[in-house]
Amino acid sequence: MAFPSTRPRRLRRTAALRRLVAETQLSPAAMVLPVFVREGVTEPVAISSMPGVVQHTRDSARAAVAEAAVLGLGGVMLFGVPLRKDASGSAALDPCGVLAGAIRDAVSEGGDALVVMSDLCLDEFTDSGHCGVLDDRGDVDNDATLEVYAEMAVVHAEAGVHMVAPSGMMDGQVGAVRSALDSAGYTDTGILAYAAKYASAFYGPFREAVASSLVGDRRTYQMDPPNAREAVREALLDVDEGADIIMVKPALGYLDLVVQMREVVPVPVAAYNVSGEYAMVEAAAAHGWIDRDRAIDEVLTSIRRAGADIVLTYWAAQVARRLQAGTMAQ
Ligand code: PBG
Repeated sequence: MAFPSTRPRRLRRTAALRRLVAETQLSPAAMVLPVFVREGVTEPVAISSMPGVVQHTRDSARAAVAEAAVLGLGGVMLFGVPLRKDASGSAALDPCGVLAGAIRDAVSEGGDALVVMSDLCLDEFTDSGHCGVLDDRGDVDNDATLEVYAEMAVVHAEAGVHMVAPSGMMDGQVGAVRSALDSAGYTDTGILAYAAKYASAFYGPFREAVASSLVGDRRTYQMDPPNAREAVREALLDVDEGADIIMVKPALGYLDLVVQMREVVPVPVAAYNVSGEYAMVEAAAAHGWIDRDRAIDEVLTSIRRAGADIVLTYWAAQVARRLQAGTMAQ
């Protein structure tokens, strides 16, 4: 009987060995917490499809940002849920609106300790629920939408945001936002571009989170799930137009793209562990079907292992708390 002389199992024998040779680490600095802020509420509102996530009041959002800073998170991504929606999404351009206000609060609360980012999109603000304004035929009008995004970017920059995150998948959005920011003197305000954002079923719970009024889908502007080469094309265009960071979204079904992006783009790559991915784990764990903490760590580690420098995740604060306490699941 010839016994093997090479034994990879040697390195798996103890927890200390496994930790020593771990190729991928989770760290608070690489995680960004999405934060929903709802106008006109006096108590945080639970989101039923995302247990543990809430629509914040202005005050509770402040507290969440302060905690994120103490935990050492890389940043927060702010989403606004306005009281009023209309055809042009005009509340998105209100310098005193819910999102601009939340940005101001977050910057004063988080200071220099974390990066304050804002979702730059119209879907929370339009009565159609679409990410842009509609033309006479009811289609999303790409170029008219760019003009609104450009203005919205300047409103966010005036409120002090460190990075804006255009997420509407309009052609030319990064270039339009970059030139608007530059013309207004905000040359240091960065752009995290949702470069490859797919028309995904996994955004379902998010639609509840932002009280979306969308009927139908976003397939004429978000990407089609079968396509990968096209995602690379989108990312290269965004880098060309001035994106400082590019993002793949959702994360789990699209890890092949995270791998590719890491190879082809010279800027940091982020991946968005989206609401449906969160909800699946939470729902299964609530049934006792999977070990919640282990599943969370495995999901986030996999996204990092694929090559994401930055992970947007609703679990960011919880995982950071466990990292601080030294109680990781594995
Ligand atoms: C659009 C936007 C969406 C998400 C982030 N930004 C929704 C959509 O495109 O339908 C989804 C995030 C998630 O599902 O966690 N502003």
